[in-house]
Amino acid sequence: MVIIGAGGAGLRAAIECSAAGLKTALVCKSLLGKAHTVMAEGGIAAALANVDNQDGWTTHFQDTLFGGKYLNNWKMAEFHAKESPDRVRELEQWGAVFDRTGEGKILQRAFGGHTYRRLAHVGDRTGLELIRTLQDKGIHQGIDVYMECTITRLLKDGPRACGAFGYWRETGKFVIFKAKSIILSTGGLGRCFKITSNSWEGTGDGHALGYQAGAQLLDMEFVQFHPTGMVWPPGVMGLLVTEAVRGEGGILRNNKGERFMEKYDPKRMELSTRDVVARSIYTEVKEGRGSPHGGCFLDISHRGAEYVKKKLPSMYHQFKELADVDITTGPMEVGPTCHYAMGGLKVEAATGATRVPGLFAAGECSGGMHGANRLGGNSLSDLLVFGARAGKGAADHARSAPAAKLEEAEISAAADEMTGYFSREKPENPYQLHVELQNTMQSLVGIFREDGDLKAAVEKLQEYKDRARRVGVLEGNRMFNPGWHLCRDLQNMLICSEAITRAALLRKESRGAHSRLDYPAYDEYWGSHNLLSEDRNGVMDVQPMPVVSSPDLQTLVDERKAKEKK
Ligand code: FUM
Repeated sequence: MVIIGAGGAGLRAAIECSAAGLKTALVCKSLLGKAHTVMAEGGIAAALANVDNQDGWTTHFQDTLFGGKYLNNWKMAEFHAKESPDRVRELEQWGAVFDRTGEGKILQRAFGGHTYRRLAHVGDRTGLELIRTLQDKGIHQGIDVYMECTITRLLKDGPRACGAFGYWRETGKFVIFKAKSIILSTGGLGRCFKITSNSWEGTGDGHALGYQAGAQLLDMEFVQFHPTGMVWPPGVMGLLVTEAVRGEGGILRNNKGERFMEKYDPKRMELSTRDVVARSIYTEVKEGRGSPHGGCFLDISHRGAEYVKKKLPSMYHQFKELADVDITTGPMEVGPTCHYAMGGLKVEAATGATRVPGLFAAGECSGGMHGANRLGGNSLSDLLVFGARAGKGAADHARSAPAAKLEEAEISAAADEMTGYFSREKPENPYQLHVELQNTMQSLVGIFREDGDLKAAVEKLQEYKDRARRVGVLEGNRMFNPGWHLCRDLQNMLICSEAITRAALLRKESRGAHSRLDYPAYDEYWGSHNLLSEDRNGVMDVQPMPVVSSPDLQTLVDERKAKEKK
């Protein structure tokens, strides 16, 4: 069993596989413990009903579908809402130290789009605690971890996925993994955009590896801009400012001191869904009411220094150390930052299986669960629920699959691709190309989109793809060479960027995180997914696919739609 990516989904899947008695390898691009999961700071959404006892799975399911604008995979949303409380309790049994209510139960806080206080948390370091706990559990259970190893290709035996080719980042030597089942859990693609909360690893590797191996991508146009990232100083632009600041009572204001969310969502205010808050901040800035560094003000100082330091210790230190701002005495400056991909590999809800036999996906690189917009906190619960499910699905598959054979030709092609970056004449500079790609995606395929911009982006991407064939190493050898690594990462980012742009061009409506200036209305009847696959000539094809509803859940959905209309 090989699992690629060691964030929460990969770790949870690895625990499931090794518990099933399978030899489990967990491969990660960075060091263990450094995944983007740590950037989900404010909590894990689960209807434990510890604070608001009216909560339950049906309301969590309804909130998730309302947030996702009904484009979610209903079955996934049902599994998620029903199973996340057990996954949180299990995490506690494995050693996670949650904040507590007065009665000693797991404490839950408010977050945007959740009807009740639902987010189980550890101050503002929940993702970190989740990763720490899963790591301890996984290592003690005997999973083998391979760190600083980048996978560049999946290897196949006929239609089946049966291996992975990669290199060690430190030495540049190649490595091959052979497996009966492979799980992709590589996280997101934020590095396609200029302003992002994602670290250097977020280059859409799993999305692209799966796609190139024959899996399909779903709803890639839906990219989440978290409303609050740092905007100053420039070196930390995009770094996440947790939604927990708003969950704990933080207020957003423009440069006139106006609490502008009153205009955009008077009912939910700062705790509206992320797509709405991000667009509101963007609009305030665009119309000249922004803060000095191009964001807006977020103020939590009215809660008092002791409270802020207790509930938001990381935010206190982050602003003090990186921006010399004391958030206990005044506001912080924040603005939208690319945070999360709702789109991803199309999978079976129950098992995480893609259409490629032996290939599974879980967490952010899989699609469907969050529809057109994810609710904050639903990602940590997603990766626990579907990490466990994909682990089980992959383990079951591995037990019954016959042995596979690696193809020499595929291995040579993968090796040639990587060594080829050293032998270009007059190579294209990968750093320059990356900057251009990020600027294009940020300015033409960002928070607001329109036909002309999207078409211009498609053209630019075609040019970048041509240039990416000529990118090469400018200096150094195979020993830890970030320029060489970027040559390969760029290929993944280009696949993801093209998928986002083509799907965005096709969707002629505004829904969730996808806002078209030229089609501003939500179209109840659009209601279909965008499914992307590679055709026989290697061309990316986008087709609509109906949302699969479920008669058992229809009443819940109708009930919620009726309530929102009131
Ligand atoms: O704002 C946050 O703490 C992020 C949470 C999430 O993305 O789920």
